[in-house]
Amino acid sequence: MDKFVIRGGNPLVGTIRVSGAKNSALPCMAAAILTEDEVTLENVPQVRDIETERRLLVSMGAEVELGYGRAQHRTTISCRTLSDPEAKYEIVKTMRASSLVLGPLVARAGMARVAMPGGCAIGGRPIDLHIKGLEKMGATITQEHGYLEARAERLRGAHLVFDRITVTGTEDLLMAAVLAEGETLMENCAREPEITDLAALLTAMGAKIEGAGSSTIRIKGVQRLHGARYRINPDRIEAGTFLVAGAITRGDLIVANCNPSHLGAVIAKLEQTGVRVDIPGPDTVRVRADGQLRAADISTEEYPGFPTDMQAQYMALATQAEGVSMVKENIFENRFMHVQELVRMGANIKVDGSTATVRGPARLSATAVMCSDLRASASLVLAALVADGESILDRVYHMDRGYERIEEKLRGVGAQIMRMGNVFNPKEGETAAD
Ligand code: EPZ
Repeated sequence: MDKFVIRGGNPLVGTIRVSGAKNSALPCMAAAILTEDEVTLENVPQVRDIETERRLLVSMGAEVELGYGRAQHRTTISCRTLSDPEAKYEIVKTMRASSLVLGPLVARAGMARVAMPGGCAIGGRPIDLHIKGLEKMGATITQEHGYLEARAERLRGAHLVFDRITVTGTEDLLMAAVLAEGETLMENCAREPEITDLAALLTAMGAKIEGAGSSTIRIKGVQRLHGARYRINPDRIEAGTFLVAGAITRGDLIVANCNPSHLGAVIAKLEQTGVRVDIPGPDTVRVRADGQLRAADISTEEYPGFPTDMQAQYMALATQAEGVSMVKENIFENRFMHVQELVRMGANIKVDGSTATVRGPARLSATAVMCSDLRASASLVLAALVADGESILDRVYHMDRGYERIEEKLRGVGAQIMRMGNVFNPKEGETAAD
């Protein structure tokens, strides 16, 4: 089990580079199921979830090349033959996003068997909205022995209205609709940039899609899709995490290879706390913070609101701000796993239902802490970067799921952080999904 050793106190100064978005690469890899041709994706992050998705596709009969190293971060996927259209439990339990193969498998192969994802550290994570949409499109769905089986000769276009906004639900049904007979109108869709990324790839493959990135998406089904090459957008949550790192350490940090237009809510909130934010170029954001930070409330919302995936990281910053910050989590029912660990480091946080009250500034002292899920782990890294002394973070495989070589990137801008154990071993330490 890898650990991080972090000595706090160093302001982060310099330029840190963002990798491709994990939550774009995952649906884009699943989209390769929709064609017999090769799909090549560039700027794929070297993280555990991508390796899990590779194993999932290979287990179904796909050929997946996954190249890393300085020049690559590329994957080429061929789903010419899908001998076993099934997402097995031992893979699904480690990554909920495996449910993203459901729509494409039914659309391409006429059937899918997907293990029910079950819950995870941050909540129940149901996929009832995915199922409801597929049934509306003519799929017959049965559930037994923990597996969901979906069948359809050919999906039919339908008018789908999501009961609540769901990112992977929108992605799953978008991929189902592109090969369906006729037109599909989807309303109350998620508007995250990852949806726009997926729609851009599908369009490059020959799909007919209008409105991706808005809450209403219109799709005209086609007979088949062809291969494509597509470059994944930068990871806005990794970028936001680094912006908070520059702010919490009172540094002067340039976050490069990012897309500032995807960071509006995060940048606005950082400015509200007194952090100075500049946008020197089309793919860079600069943060400087030397004075006292001011408390500011957040309430997580679907994009373009303040992202739930940045809530834990922001809470770490709020522990250092003068005053009371109210943190309201509206998307998931159990996304305060980081609170107890922050309190153990000296933070003053009280939780009441889905609201946390953070009083600052609190002097954080280093200690041993346990990572529990992807973004809670990021929050503990940020806290350790300002805590007095040397912190030990256990179970950092949670970090490796969504942050590429984060210790190398942070060390490159002055952080005192070391990994104990071997660097990113994709096979090590699988656990329940986030
Ligand atoms: C995606 O998860 C992301 N994962 C999550 O990022 C992110 O936190 C989340 O969207 C919200 O932005 C990927 O893209 C792989 P949802 P997803 O469906 O799609 C409920 C990370 O840190 N819901 O938008 O699973 C659900 O329980 C991960 O990278 C239903 O009730 O989230 C939740 O309360 C963590 N029924 C809310 O909707 C459904 O059928 C939003 O979930 C689907 C969802």
